[in-house]
Amino acid sequence: MNSPCETAPLLEKSPTQTFLKDVLEGLSAHPKKLSSKYFYDKNGDHLFQQIMAMPEYYLTKCELDIFKNKTQELADSIDYSTPFDLIELGAGDAMKSSFLLEHLCNLDCDFNYMPIDISGNILSVLKENLTEKIPALNIIPLEGDYFDMLDEATKLSERRKVVLFLGGNIGNMSKDEAVNFCTELRKRFSPGDLLLTGFDLKKNPHTILAAYNDGAGITAAFNLNLLARMNRELNADFILTNFEHYQTYDPTSGACRSFLVSRFDQTVHIGNHTVGFKENELIDMEISQKFSLEDIQNMAKKSWFRIVDEIKDSKGWFVDSIWTV
Ligand code: AVI
Repeated sequence: MNSPCETAPLLEKSPTQTFLKDVLEGLSAHPKKLSSKYFYDKNGDHLFQQIMAMPEYYLTKCELDIFKNKTQELADSIDYSTPFDLIELGAGDAMKSSFLLEHLCNLDCDFNYMPIDISGNILSVLKENLTEKIPALNIIPLEGDYFDMLDEATKLSERRKVVLFLGGNIGNMSKDEAVNFCTELRKRFSPGDLLLTGFDLKKNPHTILAAYNDGAGITAAFNLNLLARMNRELNADFILTNFEHYQTYDPTSGACRSFLVSRFDQTVHIGNHTVGFKENELIDMEISQKFSLEDIQNMAKKSWFRIVDEIKDSKGWFVDSIWTV
């Protein structure tokens, strides 16, 4: 017979159980809410690739401009003359960071690249591609949760850390969540460590709204895919055409929000559960927060960091902000 200790892991929730729990909790809140972290299944990844290629979606192009054209400034800001570990949270395919990695190798810097991602699959692809492109690069892939893997990185190496968190992903957290996230990072930092985070800046409100309200309906499909994902994975029966995408941008707060709106009164089943929607009832799907330099300064202060450098793209629409402890 198993001891209680041996049976304990069975009590842990599977990813599907956690997904169901989060969905049911979110859909019983007022207003109804779903977490945008669930956007990224296989279809969601594909739709996000399409979003990044849209002419209206400027974020990726702006940060790519920084990594391609301000590479020496980036290298200077992370003080490449002493050894370090370059740790990338949510590295994905390392499309942007590869320009910096190549540049640092050309400068003959003494560093390891530690990409962290939840997907082991994407990490193997990344390792294969980067090894081919930059043979001199020493890659140590870390698969798992950001904070667990940062702890792992600290166990593996005593070098100072330079942590990259790119893509403006911090904007997909509420203000409190973002401060908590940075505070958690801060706890793992020692003097000399650096954080480089991408922030999408406040700019002409039409430009921002257009990036999330494209005429081709790709962003709408990206949001609706989460309902389709629930149909696929949670045995739900959402009829996608019964919901429409609605996007807002408030230039005073910088909050760019996406919602799904129920077109009429309807009932949806999710496994054994039933959820009612009123006509025009909203589901709050995602926030993509936009920042002023002052907002970034405040966030750094609140999470006990200090800004040491800011590198903007050529249009001044996006900033990579470098923080120390
Ligand atoms: C991943 N993240 C930074 C994107 C953003 O701009 O907020 C996600 C996205 N949502 C709609 N379009 C893009």
